[in-house]
Amino acid sequence: MNSVAKPSHPKGDFEATVLSNQQIRDCFYRLIVALEPAATGVFGSVNPGQFAMLDLTEASLPCAESIPNPLKDTAKRQLILRRPFSFSDVSIRQGPAGAVVQLEIMYCVLGPATVRMTGLSKGDKISLLGPLGNGFQIQPQKELAILIAGGMGAPPLVHLAGVLKTRFPAMRVVIFVGAKTCENLPFTLHIGNKTGLVLEEFQQLNVVSCYVATDDGSAGFKGYISGCVEGWLAENKWTADKTVFYACGPEAMLAAAAGLARKHHVDCQVSMERMMACGIGLCQSCAVEHKSGTEGQTEYRLCCQDGPVFDATNVIFNNEHK
Ligand SMILES: Cc1cc2nc3c(=O)[nH]c(=O)nc-3n(C[C@H](O)[C@H](O)[C@H](O)COP(=O)(O)OP(=O)(O)OC[C@H]3O[C@@H](n4cnc5c(N)ncnc54)[C@H](O)[C@@H]3O)c2cc1C
Ligand code: FES
Repeated sequence: MNSVAKPSHPKGDFEATVLSNQQIRDCFYRLIVALEPAATGVFGSVNPGQFAMLDLTEASLPCAESIPNPLKDTAKRQLILRRPFSFSDVSIRQGPAGAVVQLEIMYCVLGPATVRMTGLSKGDKISLLGPLGNGFQIQPQKELAILIAGGMGAPPLVHLAGVLKTRFPAMRVVIFVGAKTCENLPFTLHIGNKTGLVLEEFQQLNVVSCYVATDDGSAGFKGYISGCVEGWLAENKWTADKTVFYACGPEAMLAAAAGLARKHHVDCQVSMERMMACGIGLCQSCAVEHKSGTEGQTEYRLCCQDGPVFDATNVIFNNEHK
């Protein structure tokens, strides 16, 4: 694969109106917002893996009983910075006043911003800056797309699965989802008749091949998701140059996915996660070590502008320094 292209996408600061904010499981929620009509142009061409910076400074804390115990103190911290979130779906709906973009954001409650998000309800307004960064580059010539999600890396891969199933119906899509425990799987779970665990978000997209791994074996394969992918590759027929990996999750998991891709000569794109203070290339807080054009040399790229999605062959993962 060529290195991921870095076009400068149009973006804007838009008002979003909350349509729904539903709890999926213990600390996972799905927020759906409608953007003001002016956003339709720029969000109409958004790629899975792009993100937005949400301004939650005006959102109030929910009542004390609704705040998870471990977060009762940190939730009170003052919010100064916007927070980055990718999308699990982007759709354009016809409303009475014309086309309106709807964004779906799946989020995990971890600190002051996400605690405030849980208190958002229908009709509330927030501001968001986006779409930002470079998302997954779809390679239409591939016959098999293997999507590998770890923890809260899942949302952009739900979006990607939806886009692949809609726009490239001939492409085979196989999903691998990993988490520490069953409780940490950010999905609506059902027990299927024959297939074991069913993840409703992927089932709705008609993705039939979906595999789960948990570190403790409380759901699906016991072990890391990379081990589950490795097992699948050994047991199934596939062709390296017709296959692509798309991965999003913790860095160690991305490094393992990149290692598997290297071993099997498969293209691999990884969505990197960094703390982001601005999201637009100003603060330099989101550096990713990246191979430069010169053999053995590296340089730093900005996750928010050059990524978050990178060609895995170019990324120097943190564990590669050990
Ligand atoms: C491009 C991008 C897309 C993202 N998409 C999603 C998404 O779709 N859904 C979702 O739930 N979260 C997503 N995140 C993470 C999300 O931005 C953070 O969880 C959120 O900012 C937490 O804010 P908070 O104030 O609630 O908690 P904070 O107090 O800010 O953080 C809580 C804990 O999470 C850790 N943390 C926060 N942000 C990051 C980060 N970027 N990388 C590594 N550790 C972090 C902190 O170190 C801290 O331990 C994304 C992050 C990036 C960079
Ligand atoms: S988040 Fe500020 S430069 Fe990337």
